[in-house]
Amino acid sequence: MPLVDDIVRAAAVLRIGGLVAFPTETVYGLGADASSPVALRRLFAAKGRPADHPVIVHVGSVEALADWAAAVPASARALAEACWPGPLTVIVPRAARVPAEVTGGRDSVAVRMPADPIALQLLREFGGGIAAPSANRFGCVSPTTADAVRAELGSDVDVVLDGGPCSVGVESTIVDCTVDPPVIARLGGVPRERVERILGTPVAVRDHGEVAAPGTLAAHYAPRAHVVLADRVDVVSTAALLAGAGRRVGVLVGERPPIGLGDDVVLLDVPADDTEFARVLYARLREADERGLDDLVVVAPEDHGIGAAVCDRLRRAAAGSTGSPGSTGSAGPTGSAGSTGSPGSVGSA
Ligand code: TXA
Ligand code: MG
Repeated sequence: MPLVDDIVRAAAVLRIGGLVAFPTETVYGLGADASSPVALRRLFAAKGRPADHPVIVHVGSVEALADWAAAVPASARALAEACWPGPLTVIVPRAARVPAEVTGGRDSVAVRMPADPIALQLLREFGGGIAAPSANRFGCVSPTTADAVRAELGSDVDVVLDGGPCSVGVESTIVDCTVDPPVIARLGGVPRERVERILGTPVAVRDHGEVAAPGTLAAHYAPRAHVVLADRVDVVSTAALLAGAGRRVGVLVGERPPIGLGDDVVLLDVPADDTEFARVLYARLREADERGLDDLVVVAPEDHGIGAAVCDRLRRAAAGSTGSPGSTGSAGPTGSAGSTGSPGSVGSA
C-alpha cells in the first residue's frame, strides 16, 4: 500500500505533466492531468493509443461532473448519485474547457468517480480531473495488479501506486447519457439491470458504443493464447481434442471443476462465482500467456448481472482468436438481448 507521502508525490508528478498509474476498483488506470494537452499527448504515446480514441476523466466527487459537462443530463445525475464512487462512467456533453485530446475531438466527454481509496486520495490531493485509460498498451488485456502494470508499461510510467489486486476486475459500465433514453456503450462493473432500475426504463446495449479503432478491434481483450468458448458439457472433449493435436491447453471454468479433464490439460483456479470470475478474469488471461498455453478453453458464466460483462470480454477475446488453430467454433455466450450489433465488433483500449 502506498504511503500518504507517495500519493502527495504522485499528485506532484501529475501537476508537472507526468504519468501516474493508480489502482481503481475496476482495473489500473494510467493517469495524466486531464487539463493539460501536453500531458495527454504523453499519455497517448505511452499507451500507443490512436489520438482520436477518447479517454475517461476521473473526478473526486459527484459535483465535479458539472466542471467537465456543458450540461448534466438528468439521467447522468441520477446514475452518478446512485453509483458514485463506483464502476460506472457517464458520457455527457463536453464543457468548452475539456481539451480535444481527452475527447478525440468529440463533443461529448466520459466522466467517472472511482471507488478505490487510493484513487480517491490521489484525486483529492491533485485537485483536478485525471484522464486515465486502462494502464495497458493499446489492444492488450487490462491490468488488475501493479505488477501487471509494470510488466506492460515499464519505464514509460513515472509512478506506479500499488493498491493490490482490483476488487471488481472488469472495466466500468459506460452509459451514454447524451441520448434519451440513455444507452449502455460498454458493459462493466455495474450490471445493466441496476442501470435500468436507477433510470426506471429498459436500456439497450450498443455495440460500437466504445469508439472503434479500425483494424485493431478483434484483438482487444485477447491474450496471445487462443480463447475458445465452450459449453460445460463440451469442455472436456474440446480440451482433449486440442491437446490431442499437440497443443498446450488450459481450461477456465467457474463454480466447479469439470470432471474427466486429461492430465495434459492445465486447469486454472476455479472462480467460486460470477463476481470472482470478473475479479480474476484478466489475471487468468495473463496467466495463460505466462504459462505458454496455446489455447484457453473457457466456459463463460451466465449472461446477466456482472456475468454479462465477463461474457462480453470473453466474446471479444474469442473473436480476437478467430481463424487460429484453436478456434474450433464455439458454443459460447450469445449477444445479450437489446444488443444492436454483432459480438466481437467493438474496440477496447
Ligand atoms: O474502468 C474503467 O473505465 C477504466 C478505469 C481505469 O477507470 N478505464 C478504462 O478506460 O477502461 P479505457 O480508456 O480503457 O476505456 C474507455 C472507453 C474507451 O473505449 C473509449 O472509447 C470510451 O471509453 N470513451 C471515452 N470517452 C468517450 C466519449 N466521449 N464517447 C464515447 N466513448 C468514449
Ligand atoms: Mg482499456
